[in-house]
Amino acid sequence: MEDIVGLCKRRGFIFQSSEIYGGYNGFYDYGPLGVELRNNIKQAWWRDFVQRRDDMEGLDSTIIMHPKIWKASGHVDGFSDPMVDCKESKLRYRADQLFFAPVNVEGETIGYVSVVECIDQQEVAEKAAAEMKRKMAKQGEIDPIELKEYTEAKPEEYALIPSPATGKPGSLTEPREFKLMFETKVGPLADDSATAYLRPETAQGIFANYKNIVDTGRVKIPFGIAQIGKAFRNEITPRNFIFRSREFEQMEIEYFISPNADWKALHREWIDTCTNWLVSIGLPREGITEDIHPEDKLAFYSQATTDLMFQFPHGEQELWGIACRSDYDLKQHQEHSGKSMTIFDEAAKEKYVPHVIEPSLGVDRTLLAVLSAAYCEDEVANDKGKVEKRTVLKFSPKIAPVKAAIFPLLKNKPELVERAQALYKRLQRRWNVFYDASGAIGRRYRRQDEIGTPFGITIDFDTIEKDDTVTLRDRDTCEQRRVTEDELIKFLEEQIDA
Ligand code: GAP
Repeated sequence: MEDIVGLCKRRGFIFQSSEIYGGYNGFYDYGPLGVELRNNIKQAWWRDFVQRRDDMEGLDSTIIMHPKIWKASGHVDGFSDPMVDCKESKLRYRADQLFFAPVNVEGETIGYVSVVECIDQQEVAEKAAAEMKRKMAKQGEIDPIELKEYTEAKPEEYALIPSPATGKPGSLTEPREFKLMFETKVGPLADDSATAYLRPETAQGIFANYKNIVDTGRVKIPFGIAQIGKAFRNEITPRNFIFRSREFEQMEIEYFISPNADWKALHREWIDTCTNWLVSIGLPREGITEDIHPEDKLAFYSQATTDLMFQFPHGEQELWGIACRSDYDLKQHQEHSGKSMTIFDEAAKEKYVPHVIEPSLGVDRTLLAVLSAAYCEDEVANDKGKVEKRTVLKFSPKIAPVKAAIFPLLKNKPELVERAQALYKRLQRRWNVFYDASGAIGRRYRRQDEIGTPFGITIDFDTIEKDDTVTLRDRDTCEQRRVTEDELIKFLEEQIDA
């Protein structure tokens, strides 16, 4: 993760928000390359899930909506995380991400250990237990350490569990619910009636517009409404770079189906479609797994939820949630707004409130997954044949921020420069490409490798004097071949626009 964060800052992908004032926890800015990568991910998603499907409509709803929407959806009363405070350090933890265990030596409890959720939490807890036993000079074997969430602690245990900040017991509070929605005021009055919320998910904008789209479009069941947009959550512990932030973006679909449909089969279809899409933008299939939520842990509105998990640098974590939300949301809005949410199903000749399947994906999390999968350090031969280390981002050409770099072999030969500039201008009309004339050609390749540019195109003397071909270099294999300009354009089209 440190290497990725370092590269993102160094090459202008991602910066901490408000950095000149010391940063602002949970907020990130996307620099010149980051915004290109981010836009390419969103465009690929929009193209594949909206434009290339006949059963999908697009939407762009507002971030601030009528507060009654959040009452109806259940967010005002229920959208919270359990939080625990350390009274001494003033640090806060999410109680479901704070783990503890009694340390038992042959049945006798000699104290407690605690650890904040991390990839090697079991190991960290076992080390702390061994250290405790050593300090207390206890004889005998430590019983297996069984970590539990702090939410499962008994009231009499709160005072015994050490704070991860101080290492001492007695300063952790009992867990309490912490509301995650950001509040704001709308209009000139500052009283409670003016309270509104920044949306914590884009989904409710879809439910609130479902009737408009049914009434104005020509949709028929099954169909979906898709939206990309910002969401805001006052996360207690934003962490792991852009994985969990307070301002992020979602790409969400509500796919409306008949209440009589085989929702389990449709759910499975969506899980497969989503997995294939992640693979199509460059994530390794073997890095994606499915986490099926057990029935007793399902959200109150859900009939079934499967998360697509990805092997991030900080461990295997949720990337894409695919939930069967039943007719919960539409029925809630029907009840609270007094407007009918029924649709007439022409094929079945019946009227009903549809059920939904909801694939919900974070843009920022996808970007982090793409960066982690693409990041690679390998060794290649330089101009003089000497093997040297390089850092390379092996992005799929579909989402790479810069698609190709165009180099004149020498910058002091006007005929090479002129020809390279002409090709650059031609390619720039279609794609984000880069022109670079300075430095040794090997160094220029290396700079592009580090930002993940898949193709390097060099104009040399053969181009001008011999056969009108250019050199096309592949970022990953470093292999080069000569192609005509027309062959080059056709190749780039296939690689980038497929
Ligand atoms: N409408 C359903 C919903 O919002 P969610 O599981 O809370 O479900 C969906 O969020 C997706 O949004 C997650 O799988 C993740 O990709 C992204 N996401 C959620 N919270 C996030 C955060 N704090 N920072 C970045 N991405 C987040």
